[in-house]
Amino acid sequence: MKLKIAVLPGDGIGPEVTGQAVKALKSIATEFNHHFQFVYADVGAVAIEKYNNPLPYATVELCKKSDAILFGAIGHPKYDNDPNAKVRPEQGLLKLRKELGLYANIRPVKAYDALLDKSPLKRHIIKGTDICIYRELTGGIYFGKKYLSDDGEIASDLCEYSKKEIERIAVLAFEAAQSRKNKVTLVDKANVLESSRLWRRVVTEISKDYPDVELDFLFVDNAAMQLILNPKQFDVILTENLFGDIISDEASVIGGSIGLLASASVGAKHALFEPIHGSFPQATGKGIANPIASILSAAMLLEHFGLNNEAELIRLGVEKALKLKITTPDINPESNSITTSNVGDFIEDFIYNPKDTNHNFINIHLGQSTII
Ligand code: IPM
Ligand code: MN
Repeated sequence: MKLKIAVLPGDGIGPEVTGQAVKALKSIATEFNHHFQFVYADVGAVAIEKYNNPLPYATVELCKKSDAILFGAIGHPKYDNDPNAKVRPEQGLLKLRKELGLYANIRPVKAYDALLDKSPLKRHIIKGTDICIYRELTGGIYFGKKYLSDDGEIASDLCEYSKKEIERIAVLAFEAAQSRKNKVTLVDKANVLESSRLWRRVVTEISKDYPDVELDFLFVDNAAMQLILNPKQFDVILTENLFGDIISDEASVIGGSIGLLASASVGAKHALFEPIHGSFPQATGKGIANPIASILSAAMLLEHFGLNNEAELIRLGVEKALKLKITTPDINPESNSITTSNVGDFIEDFIYNPKDTNHNFINIHLGQSTII
């Protein structure tokens, strides 16, 4: 298959982790005879520095002309600590999502057996957890009308949803549930918010087309609690933009590290793949950033184009890396000599030779066979 992939590494650890995902995709291309072309563009704080614009026109144009986008991370403390900043790196990502119509953000959350003891939650609570969050991504309070009074003392953000916006993501969530455990949980705040009541009505209506899928409802405050009390009760979680942002970070605790969570943002025409973690400025350039979320985002990219065996091979590589503790210190603090690119090299090795190179890898690249 021929694919043109726009790579937007962005800020902080973005370039380091994206580099490992590109490495994995290149080895997949070689192994499976695909032709992937990678074209790079600026976004976020780096783009502000260069062009005073977090999302330059050339970047949007490249994304529109590409089959898929691999995104790193954006954000910089310089802007986080300045409430008066007029231009912010985050605006680049939000604008990109909106311009490309990426209305569904898909975030799988899984408890890996090799990491059950890494989560602050108890092993028996998280073992077997396999959730997929469908977060609406181009509507709600993120994009509603914003207001700040002239004296700067009153502010508001409007949360608005249309039936259409709810329908199109609900359909994706129900379809996903059909190939999983046939359950959709709508997370909302319908006891308070009118927009949530619209979500309930529209999603209930859509559910009639999916009689094999069970639909239930949870208020977001309760969902936040249930997610860590009994995460196994969930299959597909469907929710609006802000609730999805919050509960997906919360859900990352189940896996043991936010450095593991990948995501796909899809729309009618375009698809973007990115780790859910941010730019982690404190870790920039130190080789300690976990590239797994970015590598798993590359696997989601492959799956998006029906390259399921290729995606599966990357996932098996990741599982093997976790099992052999070829991980960055966020997961195994004692393995602090294993760097971001060591993890990427291991996955690359695994892709070329899934059966028997792993031990060689450890000896050759790390020179410390004792770690297994
Ligand atoms: C995410 C991020 C973004 C969001 C930020 C960077 C704007 O937190 O992708 O979850 O809030 O959507
Ligand atoms: Mn977030």
